[in-house]
Amino acid sequence: MPDRPALLAELRAALGPTAVLDAPEEMAPHLTDWTGAFTGHAFAVVRPATTDEVAAVVRACVAAGVGVVPQGGNTGLAGGAIPGPDGAAVVVVLDRMRRVREVDPVADTITVEAGVALQSVQESAVEAGRLFPLSLGSEGSCTVGGNVSTNAGGTAVLRYGMMRELVLGLEVVLPDGRIWDGLRPLRKDNTGYDLKQLFIGAEGTLGIVTAAVLRLFPATPRRATALLALESVEAATALLPLLRGVAGEQLTTWELISREALGLVLEHHPGARDPFDAEHRWYGLVELAGASADVDVRLQDALEAAAEAGLLVDAVVAGSPQQRAALWVLREGVSEAQKIAGATLKHDVTLPTRALPDFVAQVGPRLRDALPGVRLVTYGHVGDGNLHYNLSAPVGDDAALRAAAPTLTRIVYDAVAGLGGSISAEHGVGVLKRDAAASYKSEVEVELMRTVKRALDPRGLMNPGKVVP
Ligand code: FAD
Ligand code: MLT
Ligand code: ZN
Repeated sequence: MPDRPALLAELRAALGPTAVLDAPEEMAPHLTDWTGAFTGHAFAVVRPATTDEVAAVVRACVAAGVGVVPQGGNTGLAGGAIPGPDGAAVVVVLDRMRRVREVDPVADTITVEAGVALQSVQESAVEAGRLFPLSLGSEGSCTVGGNVSTNAGGTAVLRYGMMRELVLGLEVVLPDGRIWDGLRPLRKDNTGYDLKQLFIGAEGTLGIVTAAVLRLFPATPRRATALLALESVEAATALLPLLRGVAGEQLTTWELISREALGLVLEHHPGARDPFDAEHRWYGLVELAGASADVDVRLQDALEAAAEAGLLVDAVVAGSPQQRAALWVLREGVSEAQKIAGATLKHDVTLPTRALPDFVAQVGPRLRDALPGVRLVTYGHVGDGNLHYNLSAPVGDDAALRAAAPTLTRIVYDAVAGLGGSISAEHGVGVLKRDAAASYKSEVEVELMRTVKRALDPRGLMNPGKVVP
């Protein structure tokens, strides 16, 4: 058993008394996740302000045999930032590490500490006349450390890739308390294993990310946005090559929203309104971005081509920044609206894009048979082959969804596996999918992951119980 008073005293000596929280009401915001599905207990919550302080915390915890749970903005959707139920771990919140260390316009990079909010990185890039393209509905709260550790995706992956493709270098506190300075702004570096890739998407199980060098891109001040009414998921997937063909690299966003998902936003988001006169089964949000006004012309060309191909039922083009924001609310408001609408079961799945229509056609009827009245709140990043195949409880019957959850999830995951997909596209594994993810992998793959975990964290104290079963 760890000597709790001695460890608290050591942490207070290292960080100062106000950076070590152990009162239940102070720790509470860090012990439940955004969805409300995961709650844990902790020995203490600490808020280090520097990399050396993070290292001191890890060394003290390791010496005491206490687990360490890294946390950024606590917007993660897989329970990865929440400690387990035994109260034996220390939660390390990076929210005081908020410095933008450097913007380098020649290398086209920005170096930031792990606790910087994603939106602040975007704003710093704009101040420098550049773009940092990662874009998520949670960008006001989520942090760079969390984005790196979950390999976050979002609504501009189609053009710029996921976080993995936007990171050039990392600084990491290792599970034994040593600091690895891999903050290199290099685009080319073939000197052996690319170690930063191990930590990207590791969800805090291999170390604590304290800073990152990120890539910047040319600013794209002109945007052209439209909401398309579609007959089917087939139309959405068929439109992808067509949009790419007409818009080329300007195509930044191609998102799908079902009527059920849109209906929840209209019901629960104040001010949201349906831009069409009639209801449609599916909607696509398309955005082109660039430096010149030809984005508008290209969008018009793309819509004409879509109509000629018989893939478009109707379309609304944003004529002003306000209208653009109003269209984006209909997509980015789904998560929040679904949370208000009752119990939710999230499935962040990815498939070969051409298999998406088959997947939706197969799974819907099976789920409705298993739980009559279940609401299929389907939406997501169709341009990346990634659907948020989320379910909401039958109206007023949260208990029914909770009781049927294992069966419903098994139906979804088996169909994903059968069609060659993956059960986590961008949210990660955390505890939510730890066992399921392993059950769909080969023994060789699971054993390789265990080997990596053991090599870096032999005592299993870094985010214990997450990702690797
Ligand atoms: P946290 O939730 O605090 O942590 C997430 C994981 O990373 C945990 O395992 C934690 O231990 C680990 N971690 C955090 N910081 C560090 C660190 N410094 N070092 C090591 N490990 C660390 N995600 C997407 O990918 N795409 C989306 O479109 C998207 N939309 C969202 C919309 C909403 C409304 C919400 C609430 C969430 C959304 N998310 C999305 C999920 C979430 O915002 C991302 O996973 C985000 O990257 C998490 O960042 P965070 O700082 O909140 O991390
Ligand atoms: C989104 O893209 O809106 C989120 O990643 C999905 C979710 O909250 O399930
Ligand atoms: Zn998403």
